[in-house]
Amino acid sequence: MDLHDRARQRCQWLPELPASASPLYKALVERLASDIASGTLKPGDRLPPQRLLADALQVTVGTVTRAYREAERRGLVEARVGSGTRVKGGQEQTPHFHHLSRAGQDSIDLSLSVLIPNPLREQQLAATLEQLSRMPDAIQTVMNYQPEQGCPQQRAQLSDWLARQALEIGADEMIITEGGQHADFLALQALIKPGEAVASAALTYPGMIAAARQLGLKHLAVPSDAEGIRPDALERLCQQQRIRLLYVMPEYSNPGGEQMTQQRREAIVEIARRHDMLLLEDGVQFVPKELRGTPLFEMAPERALYIFSVSKLLAGGLRFGALRAPANLMPQLRAALRAQCWAPPGLMGAVACRWLASGEADAILNWQWQGLQERQTLLHDILAGYTVQSHPCGFHAWLTLPEPWRAADFVRHAETRGIILIASDPFCVGSQPAPQAVRICLTPPADTDRLREGLLRLREMLDEAPPMLAPLI
Ligand SMILES: Cc1ncc(COP(=O)(O)O)c(C=O)c1O
Repeated sequence: MDLHDRARQRCQWLPELPASASPLYKALVERLASDIASGTLKPGDRLPPQRLLADALQVTVGTVTRAYREAERRGLVEARVGSGTRVKGGQEQTPHFHHLSRAGQDSIDLSLSVLIPNPLREQQLAATLEQLSRMPDAIQTVMNYQPEQGCPQQRAQLSDWLARQALEIGADEMIITEGGQHADFLALQALIKPGEAVASAALTYPGMIAAARQLGLKHLAVPSDAEGIRPDALERLCQQQRIRLLYVMPEYSNPGGEQMTQQRREAIVEIARRHDMLLLEDGVQFVPKELRGTPLFEMAPERALYIFSVSKLLAGGLRFGALRAPANLMPQLRAALRAQCWAPPGLMGAVACRWLASGEADAILNWQWQGLQERQTLLHDILAGYTVQSHPCGFHAWLTLPEPWRAADFVRHAETRGIILIASDPFCVGSQPAPQAVRICLTPPADTDRLREGLLRLREMLDEAPPMLAPLI
C-alpha cells in the first residue's frame, strides 16, 4: 500500500473533487460547505490534518492550507492550536442574541429593544385593516406582484411622512424592504463581494455582525469614544486596507448609546470621500427630529445609504422598512432584491403607509417618545452614581459594570433575581475584547412599576459585592 492509499484510509473526511475543479482550494471549500449543510460533517467534527488530506487527495499541502484558511474566514470551521481544525459548533453558528423574549412569567425582561406595549397599537392596526378591506383598488393593488423597488404609491406616502420628520428622501431614492435587518443585508449583499472588507464600531448591532458573517465579508472593528467611531482610528485602518463600506448609527448607537457630534460626522464623511468608501447609516433606532443631527445621507448623498424601519414605531412584526441609496447603486440593489424575493410584499406596506399617512402613527409615536423619556429618567435616577450611557429617547442604556463585576456573571446573577439582560459579547465584532458592560432595555415591561422593580433589583446587585466564585486550581 503506498502513501496515497494509506492517507486515504486514515482520513476521517475524504471529499471527492471533480477532476476539472479549478482552483482546487475553492472546490475543496465548496465541498466542505455542502457536507456541513447536508449534515455529513457535524459541528465539532475534526477535519483531517492538512498533510494527510493533501496526500489523500494528491494535492499540495498549500492547497489544503488555503482551503482551510478560507473555510475559517467563512465561519465554517475553526482552527485551534493543539486540537486541529474542527467544524464550527451549532452553538457558535447561531448568534447569541435574540429577537424573542426568553423571560418566564415571573421574570422581568430587560434584554429586548422592542416597542413599549400599548393596546392602542392593536386598535389602530385593526382600524387600518378594516379601512383597507373597504378599498377595492388598494386590495387589488396588493394582490399583484409589486415592482422590485416597492409599490410607487407606498414609496410616495413614506417619502411624505419622512419629510414631515425632517428626512428628505424622494420616492425614487428608496427601495422598500422587509424591515431594517433586510435593508442591512440587502445593502451588503448587493454592494460588497465576499471577502471584501466592511467596518463598523467595535461594538455594534448584532444583526450587522450576523449579516456580514453570513455573506463571508471581512468585518473590521473601529474603536469609538463618547462621540462614536474615532476618525483617527478609521483613517489608520483605511490606510492599511481597502474598506468598501462603513456601517454607522450616528443618532443613537446600539448598544453604546452614543450620538455623533456634527464635527464627528464631517470627519467621517471626509474620510469616506477620500477613501471612496460607502456609508451605511442605520436610523432604525428612530429618535425625534429635534434631537437629531444632520443625517450622513444629506451630507454625502453620493455615497450614503440610509436604513429606515417601522419596527421601532408601529410594529416589528409588520416587517416594513426602506433603504435610501444613491441613484447609481439602485440597479444593483433592485437586482439583489429581485433575486431574493422578486419584490417586497404589498400588503405590509399598504398597512404601514396608511397608518403613517392617517396621522395615527404620529400620535402613538409621540406617546412612545414621551414614555421613553420617562423611562430613561427613571433609569438614571435609580442607577445614579454608576456609569450609564444612553439617549434621552432611547430604548436602552449601556451600563459599564463597576469592579470587580464581570458581565457574564452579572447577567447570570441577574437571572437568579428574575431579570433577563444581555452582556456585551453579542455586540463585539470578530474577536474584539468584550467590555464588562451590559445592555439594559427599558421597553419590554408593560408599565413603569415593573421596570422600576427590575431596575431596583439591578441597583441592589451593583451595591452588593459580586458573589464569591469557588477558586479554580
Ligand atoms: C440598529 C438596528 N438596526 C436594525 C434593526 C432591525 O430592524 P428590523 O426589526 O426592522 O429588522 C434593529 C433592531 O433592533 C436595530 O436596533
